[in-house]
Amino acid sequence: MRKLLTTTAIAAVALMALSGCSTRTDTTGGSSAAAGFPADSLIGVALPSKTSENWVLAGGLFEDGLKAAGFKGDVQYAGASTTVKDQQDQISAMVTKGAKVIIIGAADGGQLGTQVKAAHDAGAIVIAYDRLILNTTDVDYYVAYDNFKVGELQGQALLDGLKAKKPAGPYNIELFSGSSDDANSAVFFNGAMSVLQPKIDDGTLVVASGQTDIKQTATAGWKAENAQSRMDSLLTSTYGGKTLDGVLSPNDTLARAIITSVKAAGKEIPVVTGQDSEAESVKSIMAGEQYSTINKDTRVLVAQAIDMVKVLQKGETPEVNDTKSYDNGKKVVPAFLLPPVIVTKANAAEAYANDPKLSPLTK
Ligand code: BGC
Repeated sequence: MRKLLTTTAIAAVALMALSGCSTRTDTTGGSSAAAGFPADSLIGVALPSKTSENWVLAGGLFEDGLKAAGFKGDVQYAGASTTVKDQQDQISAMVTKGAKVIIIGAADGGQLGTQVKAAHDAGAIVIAYDRLILNTTDVDYYVAYDNFKVGELQGQALLDGLKAKKPAGPYNIELFSGSSDDANSAVFFNGAMSVLQPKIDDGTLVVASGQTDIKQTATAGWKAENAQSRMDSLLTSTYGGKTLDGVLSPNDTLARAIITSVKAAGKEIPVVTGQDSEAESVKSIMAGEQYSTINKDTRVLVAQAIDMVKVLQKGETPEVNDTKSYDNGKKVVPAFLLPPVIVTKANAAEAYANDPKLSPLTK
């Protein structure tokens, strides 16, 4: 993963270099890509459970977009409780049904090795969508918003929001990160910490709880209730007589849970970051509660993934714009990364001008 090469990944890359092997071999998914496939083929889309609005939107957009492109789409979501097993079974079923491309938003990026290998063995091409699939060579492409950049923008927004509120530090902050089974969580966190760590080191920011390790900041399953209860505990343990100035939140669902917790404790709302441009968070930003979100227009990401399928159908090689950042532990996955946009109250109207659902909320 970007700037987070695990020891195994580094070893793997070193080995490949030693053996004279390029890290960009096998980017086409084998002979099926070269030959293309029938224009009305089955395309599988396996999405995680609906932990945030972007996933809800993606399902409908894939259904409509694949149909409009002439393909047969098979769009599945993992359930809320048996998430990993559900997704594994769904992918296996797509392979059995003869899907030519399988697009996967991983429920747990580390637990799909067997299923994507079966997909490859059957000649299907595997695209990781939004979340990387780890520790397998059987993933051909990655299409996502630039996750490290998302983290950097969140870190910078937190600093900007704090400064706007109170010109000089030190500021008391707390850190939250996403679910540890999602490969994005560490990338978001590392991106944010690349901006925040120097300010922690020079004393501008104080993580008053002392909880700075990603294991301590993680939010299992990206679930609102988990973030809310951790915030409740932090307020009790650390903020009895202290002001909480800011909170790094990795997404909007968790940002609103954090704000709910702070409000329930009768405290002033700190500067809270977010991600996803969920309607409720855009309203909260306009009301002056949540400080920022990130616009990762799901319509554009789904369209990008479908474009890749169209290119593959013709037997051509899809365009990628990053061939070095996303090492999944077994290979560097060629990626097409889209640019995320930071949104605060100041630029919301402009940022959502082309979004008929969100634009009215900024008026
Ligand atoms: C996505 C985020 C989302 C989170 C929780 C991440 O992998 O990139 O947009 O907020 O999952 O669903």
